[in-house]
Amino acid sequence: MRSKYDFLIIGSGIAGLSYALKVASHGKVCIVTKASAQESSTRYAQGGIAAVMYTPDTHEKHIRDTIIAGDHLCNENIVRLTITESTQRIKELIKWGARFDKTKSGRYDLAKEGGHSEYRVLHHKDSTGNEIEKTLLEKIFNHPNIEVRQNTFAIDIITEHHLGREVNRRTPEITCFGAYVLNPKTQLVDTILSKVTMICTGGVGNVYSTTTNPVISTGDGIAMVYRAKGKIENMEFIQFHPTSLYNPSEKPSFLITEALRGAGAVLKTLDFKEFMHKYDARGSLAPRDIVARAIDNEMKINGCDYVYLDCSRIEKVELIDHFPNIYAKCLSIGIDISKEMIPVVPAAHYICGGIKVNEWSCSSIENLYASGECASTGLHGSNRLASNSLLEALVFSHRASENSILKSKSIAICNEIPDWNAEGMVMNEEMVLITQSIKELQSIMSHYVGIVRSDLRLKRAFDRLEIIYNETEDLYNKSILTLSICELRNMINIGYLIIKMAINRKESLGLHYSIDYPRPSAS
Ligand code: FAD
Ligand code: SIN
Repeated sequence: MRSKYDFLIIGSGIAGLSYALKVASHGKVCIVTKASAQESSTRYAQGGIAAVMYTPDTHEKHIRDTIIAGDHLCNENIVRLTITESTQRIKELIKWGARFDKTKSGRYDLAKEGGHSEYRVLHHKDSTGNEIEKTLLEKIFNHPNIEVRQNTFAIDIITEHHLGREVNRRTPEITCFGAYVLNPKTQLVDTILSKVTMICTGGVGNVYSTTTNPVISTGDGIAMVYRAKGKIENMEFIQFHPTSLYNPSEKPSFLITEALRGAGAVLKTLDFKEFMHKYDARGSLAPRDIVARAIDNEMKINGCDYVYLDCSRIEKVELIDHFPNIYAKCLSIGIDISKEMIPVVPAAHYICGGIKVNEWSCSSIENLYASGECASTGLHGSNRLASNSLLEALVFSHRASENSILKSKSIAICNEIPDWNAEGMVMNEEMVLITQSIKELQSIMSHYVGIVRSDLRLKRAFDRLEIIYNETEDLYNKSILTLSICELRNMINIGYLIIKMAINRKESLGLHYSIDYPRPSAS
C-alpha cells in the first residue's frame, strides 16, 4: 500500500503529538506509532516539567543549573533559547487542557529536583506524563487532518539510497522522502511518502537489562537515521536514574521519582547511614550522574544489590497526596513508605545524545526533523537536568513546526520511490535466536558499558557485540520482517554507537565516567 501526506510523524509521545497539533492546520498529517497510541515514555513521566514560572526564579538561574548539570558540554545558545521559551510552551500546554497541581493560594505548586537551585517543576501528582499524554491524545483524535496508525512499526526512512543512488557519510545532501512501515493487518511493508518527516521515537533504555523505559524504547529512530547516514552524536551519555524500585522480577523497573528527594527523602546504606554528603555537598539532591555513581560505589563497597530511600521526613498526608502512585505501588509489594524504607537501585533512564539537530530541529538530512529524546539539540550536554526532557520536546517540536510549515510549501512528493522488495525472504521460525540475542546485548551493555567504564570493558563490549551484529544482519537479510527482528537490529546499532562514542571519548565527563581517565575531583 502507498500513501501520501504533507507531514509524517513517527512516534506518539509528547514530541510527536505536540508537533502534530501545530502542523495539522497546514496539511494532511499521519502519525505512525508502533504500539497503542498512548504507549510512550511520556506516559510514565513522574516528577514533572521544569519551567520558570515565578520569582525568585529567573531564566538565568535555570540556564545556569542546566549548564552546571550538563558538565559544561551544553550548547549555551540552545540552553538559552529553550529556557527563555519555556514559560510560553507551558502556558500553551495548559491552554490545551493539561492540569498541574496548585497550592491553596492558586499558584502552581512547584517542586524541586536534583541540580535545580529553585522550585520550578510543574507536576500532576506523581503522574505528570500521563496527564500530558491524555490531554494531547484527546486533541489528536478529534482533529480532522490527523490520521493515527497504531501498532505500525517504522522500519527505515526513505532516501536516495532507495532510488539506487549511492549515499555515504560524505554525500553533501541526502533527502528524506518518507518511510517504509510494517502494516499490522497485512504483515506487509507499506510505503508512506511525505513532504516532511518528523522522528519522535524516544529513548533507548532497552539496550540495558535494567531500565525505567517502557518496552517501546529501543532506539529505532536513531538507528534509522544512522543507517541513512545522518549525523548522530553524544551517544555515550546514558543517564542512569539513581532510584528505581529494587524489585528484580519486574520489567521495566518502576521509577521512584527524584521529587521525593526534593520533598526531603534521603539515601541510606543498608545499615541506615546517610552517605551522599561524602560525595557532594548537595547530598541526595546532587545532579543525577553524581548520585547514581555514588550509589553504584556504595553497592560495590558493601557488596549489596540496592540502597535505601528513607521518606520518613515527609509527612504521611503529603506522601499520600503528592505521591499516590508510588505510595500505592510500594504498598502493593508490602512496603509502607510512611514507615519503611524503599530499596532502590540505579536503572538506565535517558539518552542525552541522538540525532543531531539544529535550533529548528532540522537533522543533517533534508526534510527530516527530529524532536524529543531521540534528538540531540545541545540542551543537555553530558548530563540532563531533571525534568528538562519534556520541556525540550515541547520547545523543539514547536520550533520544528514553524520551520517545516514554511518549508513544506516548496517541497514536492517524490513519486519514483519503489515499493519495499521482499522477494526471496522466508519466515524466520527461530524466535529464540532473537530473544537470546537481545538478552546477550543487554548483558554486554549492562556489564561493560554501565555507570563506570574502562578501556578494557569497552573493548570487550565492542568485540562481543560484533558477533551478535554479524549473526543478526544475516538473519535480517533473509527473514520476512517482524517487529522483533527490526528492534533487535536497531538495538544492536544503538549499542554499537554508544560503545564507539564511549571508546572515542578519552576523558570522564558528565555521565561518561571511565576509570582510565579519572577527573582530578572525581571520587
Ligand atoms: P516517547 O514519549 O518515548 O515516545 C516515543 C514514541 O515513538 C512512542 O509512541 C513509540 O511507540 C514510538 N516509536 C518508537 N519507535 C517507533 C517505530 N520504529 N515506529 C513507530 N513508532 C515508534 N522527563 C521529564 O522531563 N520529567 C519527568 O518527570 C520524567 N519522568 C520520567 C519517568 C520515566 C519512568 C521515564 C521512562 C522517563 C521520564 N522522563 C521524564 C523522560 C521523558 O519522559 C522522555 O524523555 C520523554 O517523554 C520522551 O518523549 P518523546 O516524545 O521523545 O518519546
Ligand atoms: C523523576 O521523576 O525523577 C524523573 C524526572 C526526569 O527524568 O526528568
